[in-house]
Amino acid sequence: QNNLPNTFTDAETGIVFNSWGIPNGSPQSQGGWTFGMALPSNALSTDATEFIGYLECASKDAAGWCGFSLAGPMTNSLLITAWPHEDTVYTTLRYAGGYAMPDKYAGNAEITQIRSSQNSTHFSLVFRCKNCLQWDHNGSTGGASTSGGFLVLGWVQAFPSPGNPTCPDQITLEQHDNGMGIWGAVLDENVANPSYTAWAAQATKTVT
Ligand code: HEM
Repeated sequence: QNNLPNTFTDAETGIVFNSWGIPNGSPQSQGGWTFGMALPSNALSTDATEFIGYLECASKDAAGWCGFSLAGPMTNSLLITAWPHEDTVYTTLRYAGGYAMPDKYAGNAEITQIRSSQNSTHFSLVFRCKNCLQWDHNGSTGGASTSGGFLVLGWVQAFPSPGNPTCPDQITLEQHDNGMGIWGAVLDENVANPSYTAWAAQATKTVT
């Protein structure tokens, strides 16, 4: 897992991300795992409340799920889970008090999608995550501060598909089986972009 970010431009949308990941072919996770983040232009001086995320995750024949933790650990952090089903990539916001099936997140965070794609080995999603950088799950609070230029994030990947895949509030999961970890993600000046507002306005698709 790289700590210093790569800078990566999504070809289809032109959105510029800081990105971190597990390379395809690494022993930690079959197929690799990539996460990118784009932030509002002032996010390195004033804590942002939202971000645009890029996820590229391994899947086998359109099965599997992946996700990340916005504080690092699985527990007491806002968790984002994504999976492909038919031609849609679904997401759910979750929160876990322990190492068991996470609850549906009770706060006001919201994901809207900019684009998604899938092939036989991977799926990807570009999405806006509003109110995702500070959280309150029934009084359990926390956050990820962008102004410090450094985040601690967690990654996770699994090959079995969720149960109830077309109903994000009611999915069932088995414990992840294709790698997990925590890493320190340094943010550089490319993460905060004056085009953020225009990019975020493209996030018009709600998948529920
Ligand atoms: C770690 C169980 C779902 C993110 C772990 C560990 C267990 C576990 C037992 C610790 C394993 C070890 O240290 O060897 C489960 C079960 C789940 C589930 C039973 C569902 C039924 C999720 C989801 C996410 C997630 C949905 C995020 C979207 C993580 C992360 C770690 C982790 C980032 C590594 C960091 C840490 O140890 O806290 N999980 N998990 N998990 N899990 Fe989960």
